[in-house]
Amino acid sequence: MRFTFLAIVVGLAVGAFAQSSTADAYVASEASIAKAGVLANIGPSGSKSQGAKAIASPSTTNPNYLFTWTRDTSLVFKALIDQFTSGEDTTLRGLIDSFTSSQAILQQVSNPSGTVSTGGLGEPKFNIDESAFTDAWGRPQRDGPALRSTAIISYANWLLDNGNTTYVTQTLWPIIKLDLDYVEANWNQTGFDLWEEVNSSSFFTTAVQHRALREGAAFATRIGQTSEVSGYTTQAANVLCFLQSYWNPSGGFITANTGGGRSGRDANTVLTSIHTFDPAAGCDAATFQPCSDKALSNLKVYVDAFRSIYTINSGVAANAAVATGRYPEDSYQGGNPWYLTTIAVAEQLYDALIVWDQLGSINVTTTSLPFFQQFSSGITTGTFASTSETYTTLTTAVKNFADGFIAVNAQFTPSNGGLAEQYSRSNGQPVSAVDLTWSYAATLTAFHARTGKTYPGWGAAGLTVPAVCSTSGSGSSGGGGGAGTVAVTFNVQATTFFGENIYITGSVDALQNWSPDNALLLSSANYPIWSITVNLPASTDVQYKFIRKAPGELIWESDPNNQITTPASGSFTQSDTFR
Ligand SMILES: *[C@@H]1O[C@H](CO)[C@@H](O)[C@H](O)[C@H]1NC(C)=O
Ligand SMILES: *[C@@H]1O[C@H](CO)[C@@H](O)[C@H](O)[C@H]1NC(C)=O
Ligand SMILES: *[C@@H]1O[C@H](CO)[C@@H](O)[C@H](O)[C@H]1NC(C)=O
Ligand SMILES: *[C@@H]1O[C@H](CO)[C@@H](O)[C@H](O)[C@H]1NC(C)=O
Repeated sequence: MRFTFLAIVVGLAVGAFAQSSTADAYVASEASIAKAGVLANIGPSGSKSQGAKAIASPSTTNPNYLFTWTRDTSLVFKALIDQFTSGEDTTLRGLIDSFTSSQAILQQVSNPSGTVSTGGLGEPKFNIDESAFTDAWGRPQRDGPALRSTAIISYANWLLDNGNTTYVTQTLWPIIKLDLDYVEANWNQTGFDLWEEVNSSSFFTTAVQHRALREGAAFATRIGQTSEVSGYTTQAANVLCFLQSYWNPSGGFITANTGGGRSGRDANTVLTSIHTFDPAAGCDAATFQPCSDKALSNLKVYVDAFRSIYTINSGVAANAAVATGRYPEDSYQGGNPWYLTTIAVAEQLYDALIVWDQLGSINVTTTSLPFFQQFSSGITTGTFASTSETYTTLTTAVKNFADGFIAVNAQFTPSNGGLAEQYSRSNGQPVSAVDLTWSYAATLTAFHARTGKTYPGWGAAGLTVPAVCSTSGSGSSGGGGGAGTVAVTFNVQATTFFGENIYITGSVDALQNWSPDNALLLSSANYPIWSITVNLPASTDVQYKFIRKAPGELIWESDPNNQITTPASGSFTQSDTFR
């Protein structure tokens, strides 16, 4: 046994070293190409930008990407602003100023989503001459204003640090405030996801909205705009609460969209992890930090979804890096792996390594166990200090795994270093839009994380998720259950045999005062989730248990009793798994 285990470890390590040297070589050759690739597509002097402030790709047919998307532009400029404010590239200021001034213009352009004050900020893309794009499209998309405010706030903070207060308060704050007010007012509305296909709620959108409101509140405080702070803070707490609902505990992954009818496994979630990374927030799962147990479990489920569907991944060991795409059901342009999604996996892992190093330990929980078992089949839950052999084994393996994703992209990058949107699932040839700005920017940020450097966080440390989720601001509440009561929905996951049913009873009249005979029957309409909505007294501690009943059978849940505190008003949903 022991001999076999060692042999496997050695075999992995040899392959892994090869991947790391491939990654080293790719970083050495591709970093300058990726930077040039970004710069060619932006600004008045960009060689491929045709005078636009930022384009998605110079491709004009099949697909035509010669537009400026608020999301893509903001993500790309956030990366450039980080390079500028950290002093890595001090030449970028002119481009950044032209980005902020063009965004101020675009905010005011009336478009099919509305005017600046009636929803127009949710318009996803514009023509490169800064006019509205008026054809049919997946609109609105509500991540753009959030990402734009995040990018501009990071630049504004640098300007404040450098004494340029007037420009910040007079020129940048009005742009930022429009976007933050839009997020504050609209986060609880549906819209199209970042892939512009599903009109529902989307994890990426919710998470970047949360981030924007948090840093917006801090920024407003910093510049003395205190009247905005409480609105942003209140909604940030509500968004954080809602964010938790995307987690799928039985599948161990984050369901990317509330609609769409897909498996829910989606690069959306990995991109969220890297774009809401806060190096000060440890491995906090409330904000799905890159090293949180939930984000690691999700990463494994996401990557595994692509192992068997792409020919180019065949023959790769089940715990080695593979090419990944947007989501396994994807068919757009052939539904291939993307450069930016594959390298995002590497970036999440590099971010995790940075934080474990800071914390001096790795915490393996039941949630993250399957992720870590890929690298050490005998691993158990527990905390492993950086002085331990296990810590070294795990971090070495994770680094090699991450480098493997870089090596996959390296293998399918053509010799001139150009990065299209996708590469063929069957033979690795580049496909779809050429020179995708986002592919280059994603490559730059992953390379940066690989060096272990970080940029300032956004206030994700130590956040508490509210016990009860409220929908939106200004005193709104859900449908209550009459005077002094609230409508409480109990959902419990329980697998049953035919003829067996799930009941609830508990400590109040409405739950039949602990009577197993009079316990209330739950509905199995969403089996294996059983549900019931009951009007319970408001602001009250209520204890309850579920019971399985079948002819001749009555099985209580094991101890202890479940407990909730009902809210003062509105409605409340409680989700459990039958014990
Ligand atoms: C403040 O920054 C803006 C944007 O870069 C610049 O145009 C302006 O000259 C700066 N003002 C001062 C006083 O440095
Ligand atoms: C609005 O928020 C509530 C409470 O978190 C949530 O149940 C609902 O799904 C949200 N709707 C949208 C569209 O975000
Ligand atoms: C998407 O949902 C929004 C609701 O937020 C709705 O206003 C819009 O018309 C929908 N778009 C499409 C194309 O169905
Ligand atoms: C490790 O994670 C578990 C489960 O989330 C938690 O109870 C425990 O406090 C954590 N330990 C450390 C040292 O962070």
